[in-house]
Amino acid sequence: MVPSRVTLRRASPNSPAAFPVISGRENRVRGRARPGYGPRMTHDDGYFGEEIAADYDDSSAAMFAPEAVAPAVDLLAELAGDGAALEFGVGTGRIALPLARRGVPVHGIDLSRAMVDRLRAKPGADAVATTIGDFASTRVEGDRSLVYLVFNTIGNLTTQDAQVACFENAAAHLRPGGRFVVEVGVPELRRLPAGQQVLPFGQSGTQWAFDVYDCATQAMSSNYVTVDSGKGSVWSIPFRYVWPSELDLMARIAGMRLVERWEDWNRKPFTHESTEHVSVWEKPGR
Ligand SMILES: C[S@@+](CC[C@H](N)C(=O)[O-])C[C@H]1O[C@@H](n2cnc3c(N)ncnc32)[C@H](O)[C@@H]1O
Repeated sequence: MVPSRVTLRRASPNSPAAFPVISGRENRVRGRARPGYGPRMTHDDGYFGEEIAADYDDSSAAMFAPEAVAPAVDLLAELAGDGAALEFGVGTGRIALPLARRGVPVHGIDLSRAMVDRLRAKPGADAVATTIGDFASTRVEGDRSLVYLVFNTIGNLTTQDAQVACFENAAAHLRPGGRFVVEVGVPELRRLPAGQQVLPFGQSGTQWAFDVYDCATQAMSSNYVTVDSGKGSVWSIPFRYVWPSELDLMARIAGMRLVERWEDWNRKPFTHESTEHVSVWEKPGR
């Protein structure tokens, strides 16, 4: 039997991406996960379909905690200033809703109707406009002082071209002087011994979770093996890991330049040992 949920999730954003809580046949990988291998999207909502959306807030509870949300919203509100904000991958509104409550006009783009439906059902949702689409290419009207992409969601774009397109799309939505903010983990390759492609990140006795890296292509996947009542199942989701310096080049391609890089939303300095970063690029011309 397939477990009703994946339990070995990393709550911190220091993961390749937010790990959806999994149940459901259409999201299951039949067979063994291989490097660079992941399930194809099996419905229009991508990897965040109905069953994941239904459990997303509970399964990401640590990321919804005030101590996780407030510093992000404080910084984003400051960067937005008197302008409007656009969130790529708005999801269920974890950041967009409290940012809108701060008086910042917020628009969100997301592939998943299931996730956006959850946002739309929450108090205060009227203050957040939403558009269903791919944030690498979808354009919405208006210019903005801030575009942001949090919780490792840049890794959900699994090609370099798509990640570059995302930067270009962010720049296209920004007014001169506007900022693009990305929160994402630093790839954990320092933990990967020579000759190995697998990094475990959790085990519970009934479930084993591990990442698989392909350093030739920067493809990776997060994989969950669960044994329940003597039967095993595997679930896998693909990502593309990306370096801070590579993001800076993507920003340059899109006509932006790095203005800040911190380790976290509290502006802790980014160092040699930082495992994640919050980076800010500016569109010049103000
Ligand atoms: C990890 S969730 C983050 C949601 C929200 N930003 C948060 O912090 O809780 C990632 C979201 O990005 C969306 N997403 C992933 N790839 C996307 C793409 N290419 N275009 C639009 N949305 C995408 C997913 O549907 C999901 O809602």
